[in-house]
Amino acid sequence: MHPDRYAVAGNPVEHSRSPLIHSLFAQATGQALEYGRLLCPLDAFPPTVKRFAEDGAKGCNVTVPFKFEAFEMATHHSRRAELAQAANTLRFDPEGWYADNTDGIGLVRDITQHAGVSLEGQRVLLLGAGGASAGVLGPLIEAQPAEIVMANRTVEKAQAIVDRHRDWAAQHGVALHARPLTDPGQAYDVFINGTAASLSGSGVPVGADVLRPGTLALDMMYGPAAQAFLQWARDHGAVARDGLGMLVEQAAESFYIWRGVRPDTKPVLAHLRQIVDAPKTP
Ligand code: ATR
Repeated sequence: MHPDRYAVAGNPVEHSRSPLIHSLFAQATGQALEYGRLLCPLDAFPPTVKRFAEDGAKGCNVTVPFKFEAFEMATHHSRRAELAQAANTLRFDPEGWYADNTDGIGLVRDITQHAGVSLEGQRVLLLGAGGASAGVLGPLIEAQPAEIVMANRTVEKAQAIVDRHRDWAAQHGVALHARPLTDPGQAYDVFINGTAASLSGSGVPVGADVLRPGTLALDMMYGPAAQAFLQWARDHGAVARDGLGMLVEQAAESFYIWRGVRPDTKPVLAHLRQIVDAPKTP
């Protein structure tokens, strides 16, 4: 019997840590599976993934820039994928593909379990209104903070996402607002950066008064791309955190969706942390 096959589908995928994470999960849980990389041409995500499924694969993770196309290709969707209108997990069920989005629950579990910060009753600032921020808003609401502000350079984009989540927020008793970057509010308990601003080298696009001493300031990126944000957060008295824990937790939830088994994430995060934070030798 061949092991079941999975992959991370995206463009680029060569630096993805997902194959390592899922092989560590498979070893630890005794699951027989192979997890590789599926590089998809920018204009050919659907045929590439269809071929992968027809060849007998059981599912895939999906990364930039295909999360929206992945959502469209599935016949049934989780509620959180519907809210995000994007999927990072596909399961190739015989009766039709199932799409889920595990980014948000990954972020929430990292904050509550690894960082040890409760979101309930807190004030949360979520920066950005691209795929990364839209993908996590539903599960953030489910964690029942008192308030979530989605602040974005283009405020109309944040407003559209907030409007889509309005009923979900009301059901969970969360005050949800869109605001412009020029007026994001002050002294949040938790500050999450889902913008690409750190990649463009333009720094953190809001003033430090969004923080208070001890604010949890989390960038969804990790490695070199997160360093400027983490330094800025520390310089202003916040507790800085990168997106590595979120990465491991979203992978664990995908693993559970495919295999019905929950891997222990702590040793895998510790392993990844050593690799990602190791000083580079020239
Ligand atoms: P992703 O899918 O990875 O989230 P995206 O859809 O391109 O990527 O979204 C990028 C996000 O970063 C957006 O919120 C974008 O703001 P706009 O919606 O106004 O474009 C934000 N962003 C990118 N560069 C930025 C910068 N220099 N300053 C502030 N926000 C920035």
